[in-house]
Amino acid sequence: METNNAMKLETERLRMRPVTIEDKSAIFEYRSDSETNKYQGSIPNSLSDVEAFINKLAKHINEPSSWFQLVIIERASEEIIGDLGIHFFGSENKQTEIGCTLNKIYHHRGYATEAVRSVIDYLFHDLNKHRIIASIDPANESSIKLVERLGFRKEAHFVKSLFINGQWVDDIVYALLKDDW
Ligand SMILES: CC(C)(COP(=O)(O)OP(=O)(O)OC[C@H]1O[C@@H](n2cnc3c(N)ncnc32)[C@H](O)[C@@H]1OP(=O)(O)O)[C@@H](O)C(=O)NCCC(=O)NCCS
Repeated sequence: METNNAMKLETERLRMRPVTIEDKSAIFEYRSDSETNKYQGSIPNSLSDVEAFINKLAKHINEPSSWFQLVIIERASEEIIGDLGIHFFGSENKQTEIGCTLNKIYHHRGYATEAVRSVIDYLFHDLNKHRIIASIDPANESSIKLVERLGFRKEAHFVKSLFINGQWVDDIVYALLKDDW
């Protein structure tokens, strides 16, 4: 993994960098796929929805109580294949929540695992975070497999605690400590 001040991560097959407004069309293409994204809190209906989403993100990584977003690029094609959000929270800004979304044509190749692993390394080693969590719908099997593959521990199952797409849904919280990594 390589990083620099502009926050770029590089893995064997992928590159990640902060999202910019120019990425909106690529992001809309896969985020508007309502079937693949049925467990997500919001699905964009238009490019301007994506624009509003990007404009609300933190401009710099590691700002307390903020969401920062990276795009995931396949190095071989230079295509944007997905994105990865990082929520900075908690006292002393020592905890983070992560969420990963891939264009469905890039699923099942190990790309999400490779991207999230690199971000975990960055959060624990470069930013010295204490704990990383993921909040997942219990029906979202691919996401559950992803975090379990990376060693996250299931810590909580909240019943009908989130109102998403017009209904109350359960929420499972997985967590990973720096000491576990
Ligand atoms: C969550 C999400 C990113 C996971 O994607 P994924 O394709 O299942 O995960 P990976 O890219 O890590 O691929 C892993 C799979 O590829 C397989 N694979 C194939 N080739 C591989 C390779 N060369 N290296 C590693 N794994 C490979 C693995 O065996 C694994 O298969 P399995 O799931 O049957 O065990 C994807 O389902 C998604 O975008 N969902 C919609 C958005 C969403 O709900 N996000 C969660 C919000 S919390």
